[in-house]
Amino acid sequence: MQKKGSIGVFDSGLGGLTVIKELLTRLPGEQFVYLGDTAREPYGTKSKEAVLKFSLQDADFLNTFNLKALIIACNTASSYAYEILQKKYSFPVLNVIEPAVHDAVKQTKTGIIGVIGTYATIRSRAYEKEIACLDKNIKVFSCACPLFVPLVEEGWNNHKITVEIAKEYLNYFKDKHIDTLILGCTHYPLLKPLLAKIMGNSVTLIDTAISVVNQLNNLLEKYEAFSFINKPDNKYFVTDVTQNLVEVSRGFLGVDDIAWEKIDLDSFLMAHG
Ligand code: DGL
Repeated sequence: MQKKGSIGVFDSGLGGLTVIKELLTRLPGEQFVYLGDTAREPYGTKSKEAVLKFSLQDADFLNTFNLKALIIACNTASSYAYEILQKKYSFPVLNVIEPAVHDAVKQTKTGIIGVIGTYATIRSRAYEKEIACLDKNIKVFSCACPLFVPLVEEGWNNHKITVEIAKEYLNYFKDKHIDTLILGCTHYPLLKPLLAKIMGNSVTLIDTAISVVNQLNNLLEKYEAFSFINKPDNKYFVTDVTQNLVEVSRGFLGVDDIAWEKIDLDSFLMAHG
């Protein structure tokens, strides 16, 4: 791993800003470049083929910046594109699933873990497979919670409708005796207080954004590759300036002044061969 260069981060849209928030807090001396594929979001309802194709293009775009590492912030993209991307590039490629699973397996006492995510993430069984790699005896119960994404984007993190929907989804875990719940989607960290209240004290929530930034920190430490840039020139790209871009990104990052740049991925990638 090289010391110079940016950390590339991509997501299907703006949810990956939960990873950026963590990066800004934990590794403020690093420079990063973010791509949110807002033109094609959501990925969570799409087929494996579509998610793979979009993810490869997202990574190709970020690869035109001198990267020292790439984070697949999107759980859905991590589920389908990690293996290929990790083989394709010589710099470290991190997905959000592996570090979260690591933390969850370390955390569980009952050996029963719950996972929530988009339809595509749950369908992929990526979390189950990763957990089985670490410990075959652990039981996993997974549940898709697709309505959480639009509710968070609407800023309805504590709305009574969100409370009802969350209760309905999480009711699935009622008799499963899980003691650890992986929040397997970029948007779910914003629902943490609500989900914690519904699940109760006996269940620990695993935030994939925190897990992946911990993993990156460990890598930077291992390779002595930390940067200490005073005012990093962080870049934020989207593939479409969607109507509520400013409001939604404020919801994730808490700031208004992100200088979003719009990029047309098709023409960009055509021009860059
Ligand atoms: N970023 C996606 C994920 O973490 C959620 C939004 C979407 O479906 O595109 O799975």
